[in-house]
Amino acid sequence: MSENQDRTAGDMPTIEVRGLCKRFGHVVAVDGLSFTIVPGKITGFFGPNGSGKTTTLRMILGLVRPTSGITLVDGVPYAQLPHPKRAVGAVLETSGFYPSRSARDHLRVLCAMSGIDYSRVDAVLAMVGLAEVASRRAGGFSLGMRQRLELASALLGDPGALILDEPANGLDPQGIAWLRGFLRWYASQGRSVLVSSHLLTEGAQIVDDVVIVANGRLLARSTVAELTASLPTYVRIRTPEAERLANLLASAGIRVSYEAYDVVLAAGTNTSVVGPIIASHGLVVEQMSSVGGTLEDAFLALTGGGAWPAQVPGQWAPQPAQPGQWGPQPAQPGQWGPQGAQPGQWGPQGAQPGQWGPQGAQPGQPGQWGPGGGGTRADSDGGSQAGEWYQPR
Ligand SMILES: Nc1ncnc2c1ncn2[C@@H]1O[C@H](COP(=O)(O)OP(=O)(O)OP(=O)(O)O)[C@@H](O)[C@H]1O
Ligand SMILES: [Mg+2]
Repeated sequence: MSENQDRTAGDMPTIEVRGLCKRFGHVVAVDGLSFTIVPGKITGFFGPNGSGKTTTLRMILGLVRPTSGITLVDGVPYAQLPHPKRAVGAVLETSGFYPSRSARDHLRVLCAMSGIDYSRVDAVLAMVGLAEVASRRAGGFSLGMRQRLELASALLGDPGALILDEPANGLDPQGIAWLRGFLRWYASQGRSVLVSSHLLTEGAQIVDDVVIVANGRLLARSTVAELTASLPTYVRIRTPEAERLANLLASAGIRVSYEAYDVVLAAGTNTSVVGPIIASHGLVVEQMSSVGGTLEDAFLALTGGGAWPAQVPGQWAPQPAQPGQWGPQPAQPGQWGPQGAQPGQWGPQGAQPGQWGPQGAQPGQPGQWGPGGGGTRADSDGGSQAGEWYQPR
């Protein structure tokens, strides 16, 4: 079979990783990783920096020898593939170009090296949107254009699987949107797409399935939908009528808390429930958004601690976020609250130190007001505990 024969249904390769380990001296980069990438889907390979993503991809491509375990493409190690460029196209890192060589010539050289027909050059340039600059020197390309040229290189063999390491790095929002559309189109032809990223926000918009790793170990192998389905969600509402809104939501059976004196959090609900309550009582709302239930939240839950604070399903009340970390910021005396509020006098106007929310409510008791898990505020007003939300009485 030549590199350029037409593909037939059923010859799209799967990628398998079985019991994969890699040590670099005393560093365990990959630690017993197993997963399979199926055709027709975009699989995100997510993990914090240094979690072994690139090392795993390099092992799949036969560029790094595993300490133990195996990787298979279409049932065989990459090195044994009869037509590797036809099986897998990969972009692991920007490999650099001869600066004076045009994009078209760069690709023609790669064709010559891999026995691929030159007719593929203009085809892949068109696919990645570089047809109009094909004669320009690659050395003069922007970062985004260089990444498209790398992708074009990977596509030369019309591969059944694409492996891209951090493909969104350096792309502007338009570039990311384009990449998303391109990968979706590629996978829709029944091909396998494996995309690594340490950035969930970009990655989450692109992928169907996820493989999540940390410290070289598998944390989750799932669809995005499965992973996020059980995550708690809440609605954040900024309103000058926070106390009134909180009471209305509570009497509708919704758990509420404050994130700030003018920001109410409504637990386990969504904007289509909260919106009509607000509208029917003519409340003034400055901002309303749904929070939680995202792939990023799942990622944070799975990689709890370390670089990301834990958001454990079921204990989802805003965590006492640390400066620079995710989640509601810790309230600092003088940073928010009614003008002129003094430390220990948080909450709606008129609240006295130690008195959150509706008159008479005492802090720190189950069923009373207080920021769930808002340690900083809880400390300042007498000690609410995580998970204590205002309940209707
Ligand atoms: N050639 C090497 N020699 C020594 N250590 C290495 C080598 N390659 C990777 N490592 C180490 O292995 C670990 C995993 O690195 P890897 O590049 O696979 O992580 P990554 O998940 O791709 O990270 P990032 O998100 O930053 O790209 C790191 O601790 C790294 O320092
Ligand atoms: Mg990497």
